[in-house]
Amino acid sequence: MNLDYNTVRKDQAERLRLIMQEKNGQSEPAYRHEPRIMTISSGKGGVGKTNIAINLAIAFAEVGKKVVVMDADLGLANVNVILGIIPKYNLYHVIKKQKKLREIIVDTQYGIQIIAGASGFSQLANLNEEERAVFVEGLKDLSYADYIIIDTAAGVSQNVLTFLKGADDAIIITTPEPTAITDAYGIIKSITTESNNGPSIKLVVNRVRTVMEGKKVAERVINIAGQFLNVKVNNIGFIFEDSVVQRAVIKQDPFYRSAPNSKAAQSIKHLMTRLANVEYAESGGFGKFLRSVFRGKF
Ligand SMILES: Nc1ncnc2c1ncn2[C@@H]1O[C@H](COP(=O)(O)OP(=O)(O)OP(=O)(O)O)[C@@H](O)[C@H]1O
Ligand SMILES: [Mg+2]
Repeated sequence: MNLDYNTVRKDQAERLRLIMQEKNGQSEPAYRHEPRIMTISSGKGGVGKTNIAINLAIAFAEVGKKVVVMDADLGLANVNVILGIIPKYNLYHVIKKQKKLREIIVDTQYGIQIIAGASGFSQLANLNEEERAVFVEGLKDLSYADYIIIDTAAGVSQNVLTFLKGADDAIIITTPEPTAITDAYGIIKSITTESNNGPSIKLVVNRVRTVMEGKKVAERVINIAGQFLNVKVNNIGFIFEDSVVQRAVIKQDPFYRSAPNSKAAQSIKHLMTRLANVEYAESGGFGKFLRSVFRGKF
């Protein structure tokens, strides 16, 4: 009883001290700030990862968050293509020490920043120790961000797993197609077997036609994962099938901006709110992420 009271008093005193510090404009940080790392992945390709990564990032930016999208995918529809941007430099230049990571970050008109991937970077496994150290050192430059959203390639290569293992949230995308569902289960299985103290696994069902369809698909994945892998997968929402997505890709203008009232954009908004409100167990934060990238066993 006594202890509880003291703890509460201590908490209150601490909070007050932080508030006073902020009010006085003292420069020392009132609390430790670390980026929340989210990976966007899928088992099957072409299920909407890149579109979700970008539009989700824009949604966060619109509520005042600092967001960096890192392209760890070398597919055709990659981050800069969807945004209609041709970056001069990419991660290859960082690894080859021609540029610092902070120098290759591109500001966009959408309030988000992007980091372009590189073919030389396709496999972290190909990097030698020194190159990997350069990369990790560069990543530290991103500590100002609120969110780092990593668009990974489809499937479960070691490359993808290295990013996933260090993330706070592993957001898995599926569509209602049976093949996509099976592959989503496959990637969840790989994450659980490859990492203890791994990320919080979250599921998004993309391209649903009805709310019921979204719920049913999510339930299926969650039940199978619970039953066979004993892992908790959190359903964080669904995104409607919407022709604005294709149109936005063709126009190279993200739908969250060009069609804010569309069903797809509204779905993204829900997703963003859900993610922002979900507590996430910071199991090691940015430090864990950097260590995972550095020490990833290939
Ligand atoms: N909600 C949606 N409604 C309609 N079409 C969609 C939706 N989401 C994605 N698509 C379609 O799927 C295509 C592929 O999307 P995207 O490039 O984001 O997938 P991806 O998972 O990143 O693919 P890859 O595995 O090749 O990287 C889009 O160009 C669009 O035509
Ligand atoms: Mg993609």
